[in-house]
Amino acid sequence: MRDVAIVGAYTTKFGELWERSLRDMVVEAGIGSIEDAGIDGKDIDAMYIGNMSGGRFIGQEHLGALIADYAGLAKEFHVPSTRVEAACASGGLALRQAVMAVASGYYDVVIAAGAEKMTDIDGSGVTDTLAAAADREWEGIMGATFPGLYSMIARLHMKQYGTTREQLADVAVKNHENGINNPIAQYRNKITIDQVINSTKVSEPFTILDCSPVTDGAASVIVVPAEDARKYTDTPIYVRASTQASDTISLHDRRDITTLDATVAAGRWAFEQAKLKPEDIDMVEVHDCFTIAEICAIEDLGFFKKGDGGRATLDGETRIGGKIAVNPSGGLKSCGHPVGATGIKQACEAVYQLRGEAGKRQVDNVKYAMTHNVGGTGATCAVHIFSTERGQ
Ligand SMILES: CC(C)(COP(=O)(O)OP(=O)(O)OC[C@H]1O[C@@H](n2cnc3c(N)ncnc32)[C@H](O)[C@@H]1OP(=O)(O)O)[C@@H](O)C(=O)NCCC(=O)NCCS
Repeated sequence: MRDVAIVGAYTTKFGELWERSLRDMVVEAGIGSIEDAGIDGKDIDAMYIGNMSGGRFIGQEHLGALIADYAGLAKEFHVPSTRVEAACASGGLALRQAVMAVASGYYDVVIAAGAEKMTDIDGSGVTDTLAAAADREWEGIMGATFPGLYSMIARLHMKQYGTTREQLADVAVKNHENGINNPIAQYRNKITIDQVINSTKVSEPFTILDCSPVTDGAASVIVVPAEDARKYTDTPIYVRASTQASDTISLHDRRDITTLDATVAAGRWAFEQAKLKPEDIDMVEVHDCFTIAEICAIEDLGFFKKGDGGRATLDGETRIGGKIAVNPSGGLKSCGHPVGATGIKQACEAVYQLRGEAGKRQVDNVKYAMTHNVGGTGATCAVHIFSTERGQ
């Protein structure tokens, strides 16, 4: 296997972008990453596009072909283009496909992109489309929605570990603080713990401000062999680990719903692959689709012991400048969560942070960055570790 590097990255503005189409956003992201890498479109060997549900959100399937066509890579160059679907982890898996394709020696220059256009349908349509990422027969058909499923995780976490309402709310407060400094973020406003607790109820204990929003957006990175990376850039970012794990799709079959075992496995394998430990990581972008999801993630990845994630958050240990910077981009909460794009946007943030290009949200001296992207309530998890150093 060859070592792999990222040499270009680009994220579009995230938000309710009614004037944009999916094809238009993903082409902007692709061209942005190509320009960032200084490559020629015709050098691209293959494309992997993370997308959860083009069919239900915009009535368009066959997205691999569509994107290759609108990127100008189909008619003349016939570049192979594959859509990757794993619900909210579609982007993370698209990146992993690109990494494996380059590591194996099959291709030399690969685009991993992700895109979702969620705001063309109404709220109930979005909720039902997202619920299709849970077990339709055991959960969806009983009326379980994503906020509902994660609220069950939150309630049990509160009961088992004494996690408080304020600790949950502070995840959102911290991520909005970070997102203020991210120009692509959907919500760039400061919020308080009181505002989170007293905003519109969604599913006990969550209010609207505990939830990631409904979002349009796209992101893209360029993946090449590490030995070629300096041909394109002076600041290659090396992929030191790329892992993926699975768990039961429905919550009732889990050993313990407050622990996402797919996160535990993917995290452990990633640390083994990179020959690193949690204390080596300087910043992590975790999948905070709901406030409880960030608390579970920082525990399950090994940054804090089980049950201690809420306390660590409220004590400031996950803020920029704390023990480990968690979601310096603003996370899914502040940036928004265009589901298929999120895993690639997380990788873009890792690239910007490692290059020292993150502006006012820059974490000091980042040497190792991690991304954590979850599909459903934890049935799929993709973890990546990136570094400015190539490793042995
Ligand atoms: C929480 C949720 C139900 C709110 O949807 P909604 O009730 O239809 O909200 P609306 O779109 O009507 O927005 C109402 C207002 O709240 C704001 N808002 C909506 N969601 C928000 C969020 N998550 N955070 C902050 N503000 C939000 C809107 O901008 C709007 O503000 P305005 O009145 O000033 O324009 C929806 O965002 C949701 O389903 N989130 C979870 C998505 C999800 O499950 N993703 C997959 C996770 S794995």
